[in-house]
Amino acid sequence: MTRTIARLGGLVSLVGLAACTFQGGGLAPFTPTPTAPAETDLEVPYVTTPRPVVAAMLDMAAVGPDDYLIDLGSGDGRIAIMAAQRGARALGVDLDPQRVSQAAAAAAFAQVQDRARFRRQDLFATPLLDADVVTLYLLPEVNLRLRPRLLTELRPGARVVSHNFTMGDWRPDESRELGSSRIHLWIVPAPAEGRWAMEGVATGLLRLEQRFQELSGSLEGRPLRDVTLRGRQLTFTVDLPGETRTFRAIVGDAEMVPDPDAGEAAAWRARRVG
Ligand SMILES: C[S@@+](CC[C@H](N)C(=O)[O-])C[C@H]1O[C@@H](n2cnc3c(N)ncnc32)[C@H](O)[C@@H]1O
Repeated sequence: MTRTIARLGGLVSLVGLAACTFQGGGLAPFTPTPTAPAETDLEVPYVTTPRPVVAAMLDMAAVGPDDYLIDLGSGDGRIAIMAAQRGARALGVDLDPQRVSQAAAAAAFAQVQDRARFRRQDLFATPLLDADVVTLYLLPEVNLRLRPRLLTELRPGARVVSHNFTMGDWRPDESRELGSSRIHLWIVPAPAEGRWAMEGVATGLLRLEQRFQELSGSLEGRPLRDVTLRGRQLTFTVDLPGETRTFRAIVGDAEMVPDPDAGEAAAWRARRVG
């Protein structure tokens, strides 16, 4: 356990953390009760994310009033509360009932209890479908266990932000360092792999191979270059007979269409054929 805490936060002791106050939120000193699970029952011990790191996590995910954020393993609630202070709706789940009470009290003190809610729940049993943003300060192996659900339950374009730990070979779309912390952001990629029948300014078979947000492929056998996928926004360049063209697309389940927000004015469509 000591080694696990050291991996999470370094120097902070559990005793010190249990007695910590909710800085800035003004919560009274936290008093443990006998109902708390043994630390060994928890996937991850309690260590808080420093407040400036929380702010940077929310900045990286561009959290705002239209967002619903879920913090998996919410501790004293600081991530969900700071998201609510930016106008978002937020849910924090934690297996430890003491943390849940502490977080709910802090949300009430910060007067965001209508937008920041907390419940006792195993993070592995928490539905993620509606979340626009998921925040994590867990451990690498826990992130990896969550990864298949993050990729399939969250909508394409949803953001995942993790304090310190990565997600195996799912490369972050962005990483930042702040003091001794690293913050990683992933944008959930749309499933784009397969064969698409393209018609319009270009006609032919578009083949895409995909590994997370990394794609390669061809259009009528001509290799695609500079392929990027961010949520549902796909961009690629291809050398066509007599011209080099960059396509900016929105990837739907069955159809790919030009992305007007990316300035794509050309007339074309691609229909999924396999
Ligand atoms: C490292 S702390 C992170 C707290 C907060 N998210 C933050 O960044 O300040 C991890 C939290 O996960 C909780 N936890 C551990 N295993 C859990 C599980 N299986 N389900 C829900 N919460 C869990 C712990 O009680 C602890 O509060």
